[in-house]
Amino acid sequence: MPSLYGSDQRPPARRWLPRSKFGAMRNPKDFFRPLAVGAPEPVREIPVKPSRMIHFFPPSNEKMVGKLPAIVPTVDVLLGNLEDGVPAADKEAARAGLVNVGKTIEFGKTQFWTRVNSLDSPWGLDDLVTAVTEIGDKLDVIMIPKVEGPEDIHYVDRLLAQLEAKAGLDRPILVHAILETARGVANVEEICAASPRMQGLSLGPADLAANRRMKTTRVGGGHPGYLVRQDPIDGDIEGARTIYQQDLWHYTIARMVDACVANGILPFYGPFGDIADTVACEDQFRNAFLLGCVGAWSLHPVQIAIAKRVFSPDPADVAHARRVIDAMGDGTGAIMLDGKMEDDASVKQCRVMVELATSLAADDPELAAAYGF
Ligand code: GLV
Ligand code: MG
Repeated sequence: MPSLYGSDQRPPARRWLPRSKFGAMRNPKDFFRPLAVGAPEPVREIPVKPSRMIHFFPPSNEKMVGKLPAIVPTVDVLLGNLEDGVPAADKEAARAGLVNVGKTIEFGKTQFWTRVNSLDSPWGLDDLVTAVTEIGDKLDVIMIPKVEGPEDIHYVDRLLAQLEAKAGLDRPILVHAILETARGVANVEEICAASPRMQGLSLGPADLAANRRMKTTRVGGGHPGYLVRQDPIDGDIEGARTIYQQDLWHYTIARMVDACVANGILPFYGPFGDIADTVACEDQFRNAFLLGCVGAWSLHPVQIAIAKRVFSPDPADVAHARRVIDAMGDGTGAIMLDGKMEDDASVKQCRVMVELATSLAADDPELAAAYGF
């Protein structure tokens, strides 16, 4: 494509922020120019691939790596984790293990991601350099933890462009940020909008709880102390009163979903640490699904099936959605179906359900049969 810039022009800085707040703003056309000479063109749309579970594995653990060929076909995303959970003494082994996995495992349709160490750690830079230059052609997405603001994404954006150019990659690696500090939550819209590489966000409830000084020691999920209580009956405050446990993460997930959707990227729930409590894990995942998340992390094989079940629309909901779509004809106006009003807006809700079901069923004959496609 002809360009207004000569080939000897330096790639522009990617600063896409309001003029009033940050001074000079870059030309909107520059936003989709590579940030290094020879780097691939940024994407204009985030590819929407099945991403119901991001399955974490520690690349320094040979026993777990040995199980990967069996796990890969059962997950939408496989993620080699280099950050928290990997002891400091194993950081280099984990990085080498990640490279080995990238070079030896057949991924088929499964996406391959890594979570690098945070930008303020002694390992983050080497993680990025090694991952991109050694196995950049295999990596779909790099997850950056503890992102606090757009400046973190700008740093990674430029560095990835330089590394992609060096590695001769022909497609850009996308970036996924974990929302796990109060400052990150306060800057969530700017983080989502900081680069065309931004693919999505995950909620990091453990780090976020610590950073906010919340008083829960659990990794995600609810807390029995966070509740509302029925009013006393006849003024008897000690009498039987129903209590309703509340969702500690509702505000943050809802805020994350709005920021992601407003910027064309994908929201995910993160980890659920109580592996044995598969019931509460399913509840947490379903809350996230209902609020708009596309997937969650699986930290143990038992959570893979939960995420697959929860983040694939229920066949009964899909059947109902198809009935509404059929009954609504051209999709405008209002009708009554089973005593309920359906209109232009409700048919859009139904399309969300059917479009997700259709895209998931395309690669999954069992799901296609369940949906009657
Ligand atoms: C995930 O990284 C978390 O801190 O919850
Ligand atoms: Mg964390």
